[in-house]
Amino acid sequence: MDELDLLVQAVHKSPKYRSVCLDVVRNVGTRELAARRNWKDAVKATKNKLHQVGAAYLDGVDYAGWLSQLRDAARNGNETELHHVCWEAMKHHSSTRERLAILPEFYTRILAGLPRPRAVLDIACGLNPLAVSWMGLKPDVQYYAYDMYTDLAGFLNEFMGIVGLQGQAEACDVSTCPPARRADLALILKTVPCVEQLDKLAGARLLEGVQADYLLVSFPVRSLGGRDKKMLENYEAHFRQLLLGKAWSVQRLEFSTELAFLVHK
Ligand SMILES: C[S@@+](CC[C@H](N)C(=O)[O-])C[C@H]1O[C@@H](n2cnc3c(N)ncnc32)[C@H](O)[C@@H]1O
Repeated sequence: MDELDLLVQAVHKSPKYRSVCLDVVRNVGTRELAARRNWKDAVKATKNKLHQVGAAYLDGVDYAGWLSQLRDAARNGNETELHHVCWEAMKHHSSTRERLAILPEFYTRILAGLPRPRAVLDIACGLNPLAVSWMGLKPDVQYYAYDMYTDLAGFLNEFMGIVGLQGQAEACDVSTCPPARRADLALILKTVPCVEQLDKLAGARLLEGVQADYLLVSFPVRSLGGRDKKMLENYEAHFRQLLLGKAWSVQRLEFSTELAFLVHK
């Protein structure tokens, strides 16, 4: 075994990182081995990075419990309860939690003028696929969700089966290689700043490489301390920079907890 294999093994031994897909651990580990003084520091730095880009957003997830509640609601044909379970579950990922306050208007306002998509990609999705009932999609839409956690992907696949949503969730590393699948709409929600913590060029690569007619790209407008005008300005300036030289049309939509751009490629 080389030192990268040993690093991956050491990181995966920790329950907190066991469900991070191997590609992500290998990619982060490779960079940290090159940057750190020794193997031990690289293991520590890899864990820190994985915390920053993934674990920090999650708190108190209960996939088995949520699935059991979803199955009960589906068995009883109780649509209100299904929505309630999704709503409550979305509180356990800070990105979806922040969006709950604006969720009913977020997708309706953004997607109002678009042809209804037949296929959607949700890139670095977190728990956002649970918001599908608020998106106003066609019942036969194909929904493909990607995140770095294998247990999250497993949960989302079960969820999709329960609610009859076609498509698939997959654990992969979107920072190195955008999903190859083509779609009408790609959701890249609060993802650019996150993957750029792994690789400065990952945001540009995603915007360029994702194969969809429309990209919905968003940025957080608040830090833990609350709404931050500077943060909003910085993200917008950075995003405009990423768009330089592209003949894409862009519509800006500001919400109280999120700044969104609908890009027509
Ligand atoms: C800021 S959250 C956004 C979640 C979701 N898009 C939303 O807005 O509700 C970033 C998400 O990216 C995922 N992630 C981070 N790095 C990733 C990578 N390299 N590949 C796949 N997913 C990644 C994390 O697990 C986390 O769920």
